[in-house]
Amino acid sequence: MEIIVLPDTDAVARTAADVLEEQVRSGPSVLGLATGSTPLGTYRELIDRHRRNGLSFADAQAFLLDEYVGLAASHPASYHSVIRNEFTDSVDFAPGAVHGLDGSTKDPEAEAARYDRSIAAAGGVDVQILGIGTDGHVGFNEPMSSLASRTRIKTLTRQTRQDNARFFDHPDDVPEHVLTQGLGTIRDARHLLLLGLGEAKADAVAAAVEGPVAAVCPASALQLHPHVTVLLDTAAASKLAHTEYYQYTFGRKPAWQRF
Ligand code: GLP
Repeated sequence: MEIIVLPDTDAVARTAADVLEEQVRSGPSVLGLATGSTPLGTYRELIDRHRRNGLSFADAQAFLLDEYVGLAASHPASYHSVIRNEFTDSVDFAPGAVHGLDGSTKDPEAEAARYDRSIAAAGGVDVQILGIGTDGHVGFNEPMSSLASRTRIKTLTRQTRQDNARFFDHPDDVPEHVLTQGLGTIRDARHLLLLGLGEAKADAVAAAVEGPVAAVCPASALQLHPHVTVLLDTAAASKLAHTEYYQYTFGRKPAWQRF
């Protein structure tokens, strides 16, 4: 893991956007997109680069990480709607190039299997953006998710439903079930970009990157991946034991070495 502690949320957004821009400019790309608050600055930065510098997503495809079960794509809190409003409708993805799970499906198992097949058919994900939940979840892989899991239905913890209640009119409106890429599915992406912002994430970040690999902290499964970049602001990094080493390393990053 390359762990990079940056001064503030803007620096995290700019650095994450640099990684995605380099990927997209390298040729046809498959991006893994996360929802939630954490990547919003990154998406704003990419929209800005699209408008100012002509950064184009016309040859890219995108796959969402997860979706609420029971919400149609048209529901304002569905991750289909969120990613369109926050990012993809503001750049130039081709029609049909942004893929998500169908939360309104009557057959979640078949939908999950279809989704894993469609990611594989696209050639797999080049760069996967990830946020982290306060309980260490990535996507919606709650604690005790199998480290080898594929896309499937999960039940949200009470804590995650509370954390996400701000996106709904009423806390009871937060669905109890979700479809999420599994930890094994996520680890199939060639490059994982984990973003952590704010003090509320500090414990989860510390468990994920410095704790043992254990299903109780699903994000710790990322330690098994050969190419992970962790971008943190100082608040999210505040419970790490080895920050001095991460900063020492980043200060000596060879000029030729990419993220
Ligand atoms: C949500 C999403 C995750 C997200 C995480 C953190 O429930 N399913 O993809 O990374 O929890 O959310 P936020 O970035 O809003 O803190």
